[in-house]
Amino acid sequence: PSLEKDFLPLYYGWFLSKKSSENLRKTGQAFLDELGSLKVFKKESKYFLPAEDPKVKLDLTSYFAKRPPGVLHCTTKFTDFGKAMGADEYAQQEVVKASYGKAFTLTISALFLTTKTAGARVELSEQELLLWPGDVDKILPTDNLPKGSRAHVTLGCASGIEPVQTGIDLLEFVKLEKAGNKGDEIEEVGGGKLQYFGNGMWMLLLSKKIEVKAIFSGYYG
Ligand code: A2P
Repeated sequence: PSLEKDFLPLYYGWFLSKKSSENLRKTGQAFLDELGSLKVFKKESKYFLPAEDPKVKLDLTSYFAKRPPGVLHCTTKFTDFGKAMGADEYAQQEVVKASYGKAFTLTISALFLTTKTAGARVELSEQELLLWPGDVDKILPTDNLPKGSRAHVTLGCASGIEPVQTGIDLLEFVKLEKAGNKGDEIEEVGGGKLQYFGNGMWMLLLSKKIEVKAIFSGYYG
C-alpha cells in the first residue's frame, strides 16, 4: 500500500514551450500595436478610456499591463489544489493521467481583446478535446456552447482584472457568434480579418493559424 496521496495542482493545462511562448507573445504584441494604430479602433477607443478624461492617449500595451509571468498556458481544468468542483473527477480520468507530461500541438485560430482582457483563441483537436472538462464552456448554467469554446491563452489583463476573466470574455464572443452576430468585418489587417462586435470587443481571425508546442501538465504555484 502506498503512503502517497495524490495532491492536485492549482490547475491543469497545456504549457507552451519557451519558444512557442515567446512567439505567441510577440504576435499578441504586434496585434496590440497594429490595432492601437487603426482609425477604426481609435474611433471606438472610448471603451478603454476613463470617462472623466477621455482625451488621454491610449497605449494598449500599458492598458494590458498584467501579463502572465513565465511561459504562456492554456488552462484545461482549474482544480484549486482539489477544492474546485469536479477536481477529483477530472484528475482521476485515465486520459488525464496518461497525457500528463506529454507533448501536444495547439492551434491558435484568433486573437481577441476586450476592455478587460487580451487573449488567443485555441482550436482543440479531437484528441485534445478528450482532456477538456465538460463543465467549463458556460457563463450561465443555461448556456449550451460547443465543447472547447472557452479554450484560450491569456495574453494580458487590464488593471484589477484576474486572468479567469479571459475565458469568460471568449465565451461572450462565442455566444454572440452563436446568436448569428458575425461582428462587423472591419478590414483585412496584417494577420487576417478584423471583426468588431461592439462594446470594445475585437477579434482578429488569423489567415494563417499558429501552431504552438505545449506540454500537458499541472501547475502547483
Ligand atoms: P486563464 O488565464 O487560462 O484564464 P490564478 O493566477 O488567478 O490563481 O489563476 C491561475 C490560472 O488559472 C489563470 O491563469 C487562469 O487561467 C486560471 N483560472 C483561475 N481561476 C479560474 C477559474 N475559476 N476557472 C477557470 N480557470 C481559472
